[in-house]
Amino acid sequence: MNQQSTSSKNSAAAIIVIVLLFSIGYAILRYHIAGPVPWKDFPFFILNKGFSLAAFILVTCNFSFCPLSNLGVRIPASWLAARKAIGMTGFLLALIHALMSFMLFSPTVYAKFFEADGTLTLLAGLSMLGGVLAFVVLWAYNLSFQTHLREDKTFIQFITSRTFLLWAMILGAVHLVFMGYQGWMAPAGWHGGIPPVSLVAIAFFVVGYGANVLGRK
Ligand code: HEM
Repeated sequence: MNQQSTSSKNSAAAIIVIVLLFSIGYAILRYHIAGPVPWKDFPFFILNKGFSLAAFILVTCNFSFCPLSNLGVRIPASWLAARKAIGMTGFLLALIHALMSFMLFSPTVYAKFFEADGTLTLLAGLSMLGGVLAFVVLWAYNLSFQTHLREDKTFIQFITSRTFLLWAMILGAVHLVFMGYQGWMAPAGWHGGIPPVSLVAIAFFVVGYGANVLGRK
């Protein structure tokens, strides 16, 4: 292998496939195999969970590889080179997740998000606000590299700044915490003792956020 091919190696495809297989596999294991969800719900309800987890993991990796490397964690050059592709894929998966969630969003599917009169509970309102804001911020972040905005140095400096990224990550956490914390506190109710998807996502958040607080310049 010559030097050119070594330095241009990019692990994006491998990372994306592994994250998708893990996320969808986890949702199948927890909800179909250990839990009571019928297989007819796989194509939409369960895949939506898999896509949302994969989106969250890929975006967190995109934000965290460089700070982790600054902290001395050995991140392969091919992973660093993959950041742009995994960030874009994470954003597109979040878009798919948002569209699927809009279609599923009803008291029949998500009873815990609704009051008896059909309005949203406070926790669901806060969680969805976090989700929508996280999505829009992610959209702006991706757009800024694909349009003429990338020539605006001040704007790029702002959108890639430590402060902006730390707040953007908090929005994702708000989406998960208000949606999931009651379930996280009740392990007796976990299907087969397997933690909820939102708890797996928050574990990635904690590592990624810590890396960004400590290792982002
Ligand atoms: C318009 C924006 C969004 C809407 C309307 C939305 C809606 C939802 C809904 C309804 C759920 C519950 C799904 C379920 O329990 O089956 C959910 C869960 C989740 N969302 Fe979002 N979301 C949005 C943005 C995002 C973004 C930007 C991310 C990550 C990058 C994300 C990641 C997740 C994760 C990891 C879960 C946990 C899945 C679970 O516990 O089953 N969401 N979202």
